[in-house]
Amino acid sequence: MDSDPLPGFEPTLEYARERDGAGFDLRDRFSVPDGEYMDGNSLGPLSVDAERALERVVEEWRELGIRGWTDADPPWFGYAEYLGDRLAPVVGAREDEVVVANSTTVNIHTLIGTFLDAEVAGATKVLVNELDFPTDHYAIRAQLRVRGLDPDEHLVVVESRDGRTIEPEDVEASLSAHPDVGVLFMPGVLYRSGQLFDIERLTRAAHEHGALAGFDLAHSVGVVPHELAAHGVDFAVWCHYKHLNAGPGAIAGLYVNREHFGITPALAGWWGHEKATQFDMNPTFTPADSAGAWQVGTVPVLAAAPLEGSLDLLEEVEIDAVRERSVALTEFLIRLVDERLPECSVGTPRDPERRGGHVAVEHPDAYRLCEALRDRGTVVDFRPPDVVRVCPSPYYGTFEEVWTVVGKLREILDSGAHEDYDPPSGGVT
Ligand SMILES: Cc1ncc(COP(=O)(O)O)c(C=O)c1O
Repeated sequence: MDSDPLPGFEPTLEYARERDGAGFDLRDRFSVPDGEYMDGNSLGPLSVDAERALERVVEEWRELGIRGWTDADPPWFGYAEYLGDRLAPVVGAREDEVVVANSTTVNIHTLIGTFLDAEVAGATKVLVNELDFPTDHYAIRAQLRVRGLDPDEHLVVVESRDGRTIEPEDVEASLSAHPDVGVLFMPGVLYRSGQLFDIERLTRAAHEHGALAGFDLAHSVGVVPHELAAHGVDFAVWCHYKHLNAGPGAIAGLYVNREHFGITPALAGWWGHEKATQFDMNPTFTPADSAGAWQVGTVPVLAAAPLEGSLDLLEEVEIDAVRERSVALTEFLIRLVDERLPECSVGTPRDPERRGGHVAVEHPDAYRLCEALRDRGTVVDFRPPDVVRVCPSPYYGTFEEVWTVVGKLREILDSGAHEDYDPPSGGVT
């Protein structure tokens, strides 16, 4: 990557337009709602590619009925593995190490459960951090509880120094202080501040400690390249409805390092059975010799098909180019906030190597700023206590939109328009 992601930067609309004229342009492939859609880190929009794949599967269902399991193209019976093969380069894994299955939360349950049962070096504590997305802790605590392990004792939580980020040194120190940690489980990118973690370093630290390293990549998959196999990561989970634009409630993904094939998944189910003998209906479970073993029930084909379209699109441009464009867009946003919004701070690391695909713009009235932006056609989201999350997507977002959003924020702050809105009252933000 270029050391300066914005060569010749100027805080102008002309510069934004110049940048939009360079690089790939997939905008026309997406149905982006009117205005500026800056929320693709929560739910990406529909692409023609995703819609085409979904329509094909609906057609196969109409024409083939149950024969779709064997006669669809590709056959639904192996669809989760087929999509896993195509996802493997996106996360830097070998094909059989990736599968699509379940939801992210269910995948955390089954993988944490599996590796707690595996009792690496007899250790039963799980190391997480206090800024994690809450579902991670809910699921891990539940898995500890069902094993009779007190979650307050067995969930070791690394604290943040600034409420925004987690220092790798603090993770390493926490590992040293807790010899009984058997699993480190960290995010790829923090959901609020957008901090990108150094997966290679954390994996090394876990392994030196004799623990396994697992990651929740919900906020990094599709926008940041990964090298899971090369870095020796043990397992990972992620969703596809954010940066990969595979639709609300899309099937999730998981990775398990080949080294762990053959162990029994905590949430065993017939869809994780060895494929060749799955329909023998044997009462004994034989896990597939692949990440496919961590599937539970029947692959939800309709919730998986749009991902096929997203992968068609991604394969055209490739993940490294996506990342390069994402870094440039977030850099442009950060520099404009610095120049034009002195009342706001940037809660996201400024080093591109330490940030993912979205930016946390902080302001004490963040919630009301989000509401005012929405009423002016910009979709962003609020994360308590003071964050406006802004995600200029490298797939369909533009530099000009970033320019527009910062301009709208400037106008709102100047006019005090946000003060007309009520403070937060719950619901989906
Ligand atoms: C880091 C992270 N993990 C997990 C989830 C949600 O998981 P699920 O798809 O099971 O709802 C999210 C949702 O935003 C998330 O940000």
